[in-house]
Amino acid sequence: LQHDYEHYMLKEIFDQPKALEDTLANRLTPDGVQLPELEKVWMAEALQTLRRIDIVASGTSNHAGIIGKKALEKVLGLPVEVSYSSEFIHEHARLDEKALVILLSQSGETADTLSALREAKKWGCPTLAITNTAGSTISRKADCTLLTKAGPELAVASTKAYTSQIAALMLLSLWMAQELETGDEEQREKLLMALNRLPRDVDSTLVMTHDAIDQFAQLIDDQEHLFLIGRGLDYVLALEGALKIQEVAYIHADAYAAGEMKHGTMALITPGVPVIALATQQRVFDKTISNIKEVKARDAFVVGITRVGDDLLAEEVDEVMYIPDTHPLLMPILAAIPLQLLAYYSGKVRGHAVDRPRNLAKSLTVE
Ligand code: M6R
Repeated sequence: LQHDYEHYMLKEIFDQPKALEDTLANRLTPDGVQLPELEKVWMAEALQTLRRIDIVASGTSNHAGIIGKKALEKVLGLPVEVSYSSEFIHEHARLDEKALVILLSQSGETADTLSALREAKKWGCPTLAITNTAGSTISRKADCTLLTKAGPELAVASTKAYTSQIAALMLLSLWMAQELETGDEEQREKLLMALNRLPRDVDSTLVMTHDAIDQFAQLIDDQEHLFLIGRGLDYVLALEGALKIQEVAYIHADAYAAGEMKHGTMALITPGVPVIALATQQRVFDKTISNIKEVKARDAFVVGITRVGDDLLAEEVDEVMYIPDTHPLLMPILAAIPLQLLAYYSGKVRGHAVDRPRNLAKSLTVE
């Protein structure tokens, strides 16, 4: 461990600009995306007859998968289903050779995901592993592999593998759209340009949010409950933020689709309870603001996270944190940074073993 980082988790959070740069390197070209590892095999052929895609993964990888689903559906127009590996084994839609099954696993060794892979093969589905570990069991058994190049992730909590998985799924979406000659070229170009800038944007996000999050973690060091709210992709990221905070800080953190609070959960909002409001998606910004007003009216302590330039949020929340503006599909990568930092600093201030949280293991090789 480098001496300037007290824990692997913090080092790995700060590794992210490099992890993303390495994952994108030589794959983003002026002519689009190249993924020779997929071009070589039958995948390009299998693509032509696809009717659906299943993404199967556990924990944090599952959350990356949901963001991938949004990108794949947008650019391909095909239905994409995301399942927990442990559920997919028993319950899945009709599978056949026209359903591509993507196994997403940092370690490539998760037993549930490996069983899901066996299930997919039983039905004759083409299978693609996205993993950070070359030569892992899932990679060896799947028909082909797209590697994330985040480098070894040693802390139990997944950080740089998560953001690299999202980047890999963006590359895959763009590559598939190119191969199928489908989707809006101008839209694809915008995503490509944003991916090119991504490592720099992540670097800026670390600088912009680090100190404020460290202070916020100290401010809430006696809180047992925390809520994360957002709409659309912000909600998907809230799920990941909650998992990270539960895992490392042992806080009862829960994620809600912001518009759903009024259907029950609002009863749990009491004065002073911390709420993190994610408002990075322009399309639903106004509606999210309305939901923030609802929790503020119950005296919650609201921290808002939004894009530079969205000044309206500051008027509605107790504290606002800004992150760079990028393509909507990449906002969850940037907004993940303050949430990872919050999990880390909250765990640290509470005296937890942040790299080795209780009851958990890095690689889960039993179902
Ligand atoms: O190695 P995998 O990506 O298959 O692991 C899946 C989960 O066990 C993992 O993401 C877990 O949820 C993390 N510890 C969360 O930080």
